[in-house]
Amino acid sequence: MTEFTAGESDPNFKWGVSTAAYQTEGAILTDGKGLSIWDEFSNRPGKIYNGQNGNQACDFYHRYPEDLTIIQQLGIPNFRFSIAWSRVLPQGVGAPNQAGIDFYDRLIDSCLERSIEPWITLYHWDLPAILQQQGGWTNRDVIGWFTEYVELVASHFKDRVENWMVLNEPIVFTGAGYFLGIHAPGKRGMKNFSSAVHHAALCQAEGGRVIRDLHSSAQVGTTFSCSLVEPASSSRRDVRAAQRVDALLNRMFIEPSLGRGYPIDQLPALARLEKHMKSGDEELLKFDFDFIGLQCYTREVVRHSWSMPYLFARQVSPHKRGVPTTLMGWEVCEDSIYHILKNFHRRYHLKNIIITENGAAFADSVRCGEINDYERQQYLSNHIQACLRAKQEGIPLSGYFVWTLTDNFEWAEGYRPTFGLVHINFQTQKRIIKQSGYLYADLIQQYLKQPKGQNVNI
Ligand code: FCB
Repeated sequence: MTEFTAGESDPNFKWGVSTAAYQTEGAILTDGKGLSIWDEFSNRPGKIYNGQNGNQACDFYHRYPEDLTIIQQLGIPNFRFSIAWSRVLPQGVGAPNQAGIDFYDRLIDSCLERSIEPWITLYHWDLPAILQQQGGWTNRDVIGWFTEYVELVASHFKDRVENWMVLNEPIVFTGAGYFLGIHAPGKRGMKNFSSAVHHAALCQAEGGRVIRDLHSSAQVGTTFSCSLVEPASSSRRDVRAAQRVDALLNRMFIEPSLGRGYPIDQLPALARLEKHMKSGDEELLKFDFDFIGLQCYTREVVRHSWSMPYLFARQVSPHKRGVPTTLMGWEVCEDSIYHILKNFHRRYHLKNIIITENGAAFADSVRCGEINDYERQQYLSNHIQACLRAKQEGIPLSGYFVWTLTDNFEWAEGYRPTFGLVHINFQTQKRIIKQSGYLYADLIQQYLKQPKGQNVNI
């Protein structure tokens, strides 16, 4: 039993759990689905840990009723999932795939039947492969392709879905996919990266406008990955290095949406984005989101380094610093999420923030049919407490979503890092709720029924 201090209860606080299509659905060619860049990338040799891929993943495409029943059983009121663009538009644009639309219809209806509120992410990294043949995010035409996709999805589901997120972590899919080449589509270099960034930033705003035009009562958000970035020393060079990394990781996509442009003063290499700007783009980059989704897992400590082009900074690994880490090698540090909330609010005066992802991968073992994942329970309760502390101190935080419901395909890391509240045996697809799942369920219940200002004991 841990003493959990939740502060003043807020009956409208959105407790939820997040997933993504490619990481869970499987069924990559079922019922007329087209291939995505992740289907192609993960089936190329040497790209993913142990040669794994998402071809079957959690088989969520067929097993979603069971997974939704688990969400219902745990009393988690909100479920965030993404739409696979190539399931509803196999060619990226043009003729829709009715069977794909029907799948999301069934999924949404099944949520509502169980009193689970659906939250849709429009783009969680799985661009239709056919669009990549034309350059994908590096081609400015992506704005038109994306608009067509968002119009289709928003007009179809607007009668049942109020909560929308345009992009998932644009810095990650542009950085890992178009600069480092370690995620789909495996492209590298500054030219690919800078064009992909600018077009993603334009789509972020355009997608917001499309949803709002079609569905005036929708809550329109988008999500950003973020980490507290601290210098390894107080030397001027390390402090400047930390500012550059902060600009890249935490500021690059939110600032243009707020009308501040790209943070070029902090990270001069971003001046390359200007090459892709057309007249009127400053205006087109802006959109007034109803909520900002922040996704924070860890902290970064960085030092100056001449050997890293553009950034002139390098991470001091958690391993070298001797701090506790997760299976991703990420430092466990709940102060990061607390300070991120404080910093974003101080900088941008946001009206509404939701933590749309937070969670941890630890090694789990099944003993007598149970999984007592002590480290994940600690991680979650410490991070949730840090969030609620920030909320109590005046940050407009209105929700928290755990990453993730079930163990799933963790991109280049394959199935090794397990983040789920629910364990999956990938041979049999059998699900077992972990202790962290029960802890989260208790915590939600206690919080929602807690009288003002009292402690919750779990
Ligand atoms: C985030 C991604 C999500 C998952 C978690 C661990 O960056 O949005 O899909 O992989 O990390």
